[in-house]
Amino acid sequence: MTDDIRAAFESAGTEGLTRISEATDLASLEEAKIRILGRKSALSRARAGLGSLAPEEKRDIGKLANEVQARLEAAIEERRQAFEAVELEQRWERERLDVTLPGHAPHIDPVHPLTRTIWEIVDIFIGLGYKVAEGPEAELSSYNFDALNAPPAHPSRSPLDTFYLEGTNEEVCLRPQTSPMQMRTLEAQPPPVYVVVPGRCYRRDTVDATHLNGFTQLEGLAVDEGITMGDLKGTLQAFAREIFGKGLDTRLRPHYFPFTEPSAELDVQCFKCRGDGCSFCKQEGWIEVLGCGMVHPFLLEWARDHTADDSIRAAYASERYTGFAFGMGIERIAALAHGVSDIRYFWENDLRFLEQFRAIS
Ligand code: DAH
Repeated sequence: MTDDIRAAFESAGTEGLTRISEATDLASLEEAKIRILGRKSALSRARAGLGSLAPEEKRDIGKLANEVQARLEAAIEERRQAFEAVELEQRWERERLDVTLPGHAPHIDPVHPLTRTIWEIVDIFIGLGYKVAEGPEAELSSYNFDALNAPPAHPSRSPLDTFYLEGTNEEVCLRPQTSPMQMRTLEAQPPPVYVVVPGRCYRRDTVDATHLNGFTQLEGLAVDEGITMGDLKGTLQAFAREIFGKGLDTRLRPHYFPFTEPSAELDVQCFKCRGDGCSFCKQEGWIEVLGCGMVHPFLLEWARDHTADDSIRAAYASERYTGFAFGMGIERIAALAHGVSDIRYFWENDLRFLEQFRAIS
């Protein structure tokens, strides 16, 4: 009888150890533990036999029972720790995040330098209270020339200078300037007018380092009561200093445009030599930036005579309004601002050129 019980404990121990060694993970180890130590286990059954033994044998076998139980519990615990270590190892592997590795920077293309230049200029004028407008690239010749006071024999009317759309009897052209938007704006909204207009223009020019057949301009127009040439100069000086550098001087040099009177070109002090004269400014000390002038009364009269809006007609009939206008070539401004020697680069889509603007985008 005693031997039977002893054998039962011993086999419960061996069997238990086998089951423990057969467990493959924490879950199967938990199952094994219930079968080995639980109420229905071989160990429990063997313990049930203890009651029928004499006290001495009971002590002996009881000791054996405790040993077997302790051995099994220790084996389970050892196995559990091993499984936990493996599981932790796997979790680390799965969730590994090495914060010392360089991140994957998303590839964001830089904004095209011309677009960026437009944004910068537009931002400056928005800061001065201007609105932004856009106009048609295929424009009526009447808006591009007649409404802008271009004399009938003005050379830019020639089909050798301006592209006309076929079959339109030269009544529709690809605009060679953004200036027709001056009239489109004047006849569409009552003063005060403060607007800038960026856009594409086209000319029948021979392409070289400073000329393209398709290029970009930005027009500006301000019409209000009491506007003087001082306002023009102050506005353009603020613009030039933002784009080319603080503290640079500007000057207005007399010029001719049909739609402004007086007309001028704006020069900015050479930002390489600050006026001393260098190869960049061809020893001039000044760099030509844009055309500008005071809005010719002809334009306000044209707007008065052609608008469909009574308030606009009345405003310009009152003769209380004056204004200034300016127009700049975006390729030229961008080339000057970034030291680009040939404006054709802006349209070649050569990434080796464009990528150089990544740092400033
Ligand atoms: N439209 C002129 C050009 O393309 C530039 C210009 C000059 C625009 C004087 C203006 C201006 O608004 O006032 O050469």
